[in-house]
Amino acid sequence: MKISVIGCGYLGAVHAASMAELGHDVVGIDVDQPKIAALQDAKAPFYEPGFEELLGRSLASGRLRFSTDMADARDAVLHFVCVGTPQKRGEYAADMRYVESAVESLLEALKPGDLVAGKSTVPVGTAARLAELVEGKVPGAMLAWNPEFLREGFAVQDTLHPDRLVYGLPADGNGERARAMLDEVYASIVATGTPQVITDYATAEMVKTAANSFLATKISFINAMAELCEATGADVKQLADAIGHDDRIGRKFLNAGLGFGGGCLPKDIRAFMARAGELGADQALTFLREVDNINMRRRIRMVELAREVCDGSLLGKRVAVLGAAFKPDSDDIRDSPALNVAAQLQLQGAVVQVTDPAAGENIKRSWPQLDVVDTPEEAAKGADAVLLLTEWKQYRELDPVAFGKIVKQKRVLDGRNALDRDSWTDAGWTYRALGRRAG
Ligand code: UDX
Repeated sequence: MKISVIGCGYLGAVHAASMAELGHDVVGIDVDQPKIAALQDAKAPFYEPGFEELLGRSLASGRLRFSTDMADARDAVLHFVCVGTPQKRGEYAADMRYVESAVESLLEALKPGDLVAGKSTVPVGTAARLAELVEGKVPGAMLAWNPEFLREGFAVQDTLHPDRLVYGLPADGNGERARAMLDEVYASIVATGTPQVITDYATAEMVKTAANSFLATKISFINAMAELCEATGADVKQLADAIGHDDRIGRKFLNAGLGFGGGCLPKDIRAFMARAGELGADQALTFLREVDNINMRRRIRMVELAREVCDGSLLGKRVAVLGAAFKPDSDDIRDSPALNVAAQLQLQGAVVQVTDPAAGENIKRSWPQLDVVDTPEEAAKGADAVLLLTEWKQYRELDPVAFGKIVKQKRVLDGRNALDRDSWTDAGWTYRALGRRAG
């Protein structure tokens, strides 16, 4: 099938390369010239395990190319809209300008019978509005909403082997045609028995924001329990293990710690609240405000804990921060809890050395005031405290005995409940973590 993918950020670039891998003829289009040049050169503009190999393979097959010219979408019959919907400055609502301009400029390339498939996370009601625009301007063209659930760090796997396919289809006679086109493009995924949810626009749009709100709520739930554990002396990790054994609850997404960040969960719950307000249903989502509050309080608590272990003052204390990306296996620092904590520690007078296996360049660009070093050993040299803030595998596997020889004070703060407490305390470290007793 001939496909265009509009927007070659995280979602679009991975989607374009994955669709070529499935055998389709794909053009990825973006207004960002350097990004397109990098992609065309088989260079991933972001860190994502397995993506560069996939990109190289797809380009070499001749089935994938990239362009900055929307006219190159003319040959395609199916057009995926994959542009970003960041949070608006100073507001909770999503900034829809990239979606609007992508669809506007795509209109020039559309032909009757073409299908526009939206993948971006949008406020409910967007698809119906865009469908009117598309059908009004290009009679016979159609629009569907086909949300994407990829996780950073697993983007390739999640795109090629999604756990479900959701199609929000036009209510009129075009519904069946649009479905047939989506089934054709995802034929190999459908053939493996992947569950499909065939629905209307509004439901499809809401599936995405509801899923992310649920995940955020689950994380904040366990972090609220961590607050209570801190007040009672209980242990949040054991608590999570114990409640997680109940199948109805499940252990996934119950890791207490610094909480959620990244380019999706925080902005998606806020945009969802804003949209509910516009629809007169704000009460339904007021709990998400508390979810957001609990999440932000964890960052403050982490800074307090660091001050506590540094004998009550951060002034002039050397603090090593291990991990800065919002989660491991990513170089994404958008709304990163780790960086937020690192910056607050520095503002409060600590001498902070940050290290991250992948996000170093991004930190230098966006947070030039922070000192970035290459290795945990450099970061920890002479440190008064070591903070694990993003649980990269190489940090989880650090040898506490050898690492203890580098620091000034053997104090470790485990912001992700990811270290083996006993091996650190056995090596003479003071171990502190959110929601757990001091060790
Ligand atoms: C998320 C959704 O998982 C994905 O389905 C959607 O398409 C996009 O948003 P992503 O942003 O890549 O994906 O990250 P995710 O793995 O969900 O983690 C989000 C944040 O929650 C991270 O900061 C992570 O550290 C944190 N987290 C996750 C916890 O604090 N505890 C947990 O138990 C799980």
